[in-house]
Amino acid sequence: MKLQLNMTVNDEAVNIEVEQDARLLDVLRDDLGLTGTKEGCGVGECGACTVIIDGKTANSCIVLAASMDGCDIKTIEYLSKDGKLNPMQQSFIDNSALQCGFCTPGFVLSGISLLDRNPNPTTEEIKEGISGNICRCTGYEQIIKAVEDVRDKKYVKDGACNE
Ligand code: FES
Ligand code: FES
Repeated sequence: MKLQLNMTVNDEAVNIEVEQDARLLDVLRDDLGLTGTKEGCGVGECGACTVIIDGKTANSCIVLAASMDGCDIKTIEYLSKDGKLNPMQQSFIDNSALQCGFCTPGFVLSGISLLDRNPNPTTEEIKEGISGNICRCTGYEQIIKAVEDVRDKKYVKDGACNE
């Protein structure tokens, strides 16, 4: 059975029919073409599918799309504007905080969400803030450093930081 769904994705109104058991991850990737959101485990363990729903991070692989009516969703595609990377994205690059990059959208969104809630987290709080995300190839030191550099406002580009 299909259901009508109205939501906002990356600041754009989306009106779409979805199967009642469709996962948000699949609607984003397959129906809306937002393939920056990745599927790793598919069971809510790895954070590769992280998106921001109404200001909070969530694993879109375990969210029913049908429950998103009226919700505001932000994906990794939301972050770069006019061809410019968000400071968190740039910090991940400059800190060599990625290898295959499969986990990176989730880490970037978790880092941004953390700084939104707590602009000056300790290193322990950063570790806690990204604890729902797993990386199988880079290791975590450079990822933590990338978030620390944004916290420390080393990335002020065109007047925008911590966006
Ligand atoms: S793919 Fe969603 S948590 Fe792993
Ligand atoms: S960079 Fe490959 S899984 Fe994290």
